[in-house]
Amino acid sequence: MTADELKKQAAYSALDHITTGGIIGVGTGSTVNHFIDALATIKGKIDGAVSSSIVSTKRLEAHGIEVFELNEVGTIQSYVDGADEANHYLQLIKGGGGALTREKIIAAASEKFICIADESKLIHVLGKFPLPVEVVPMSRSYVAREIVKLGGQPIYREGFVTDNSNVILDVHGWDIMEPISLEKTLNNIVGVVTNGLFAMRPADVLLLGSEDGTKVINPK
Ligand code: A5P
Repeated sequence: MTADELKKQAAYSALDHITTGGIIGVGTGSTVNHFIDALATIKGKIDGAVSSSIVSTKRLEAHGIEVFELNEVGTIQSYVDGADEANHYLQLIKGGGGALTREKIIAAASEKFICIADESKLIHVLGKFPLPVEVVPMSRSYVAREIVKLGGQPIYREGFVTDNSNVILDVHGWDIMEPISLEKTLNNIVGVVTNGLFAMRPADVLLLGSEDGTKVINPK
């Protein structure tokens, strides 16, 4: 099976894990695109969605799924999103698609975070995938210098602007042994909006597409 077929398998498996009858939180990315298509098959059983990006909103609406602002709804029962890397504690690196801030907000506001991915995303130590950090544009050079002091190698994602009108630094060269500590440290640099470590609020369950069917991984 191709990586995309494994993503699709995990995405359709998520239908068995969501709470229907309410609003579903929806992430961003190629795996989530499959989930949105899957969600369309049961759209009569949900009230609508909250979306983490303009691109996901467009896909949801194209399927006739109503999209609500997070401020309009209460706590979300189920949030479904992909990941760039996941460890066995279900701590994640996210933001390869640049939607990390809205993704982190919806994850925080949700009861259950269901992460969907192909099995190549499960690794032992986070950091091989460059860690995205969203920054206010005027702070970019300052934040980059602070990250260098922490041992990272930030690369400006040129030509990319987030849905929040900010920019992204992708940080290379880290073996992230203490994800919670690094997540907090980065958040404390003035000018950082969010970083792509989802460690303080990890996923609650990880669904991995594999040749042997979807694997359900619970945190260690
Ligand atoms: C979007 O900003 C990201 O957090 C994605 O969820 C993540 O990059 C996974 O993307 P794919 O599903 O495309 O691998």
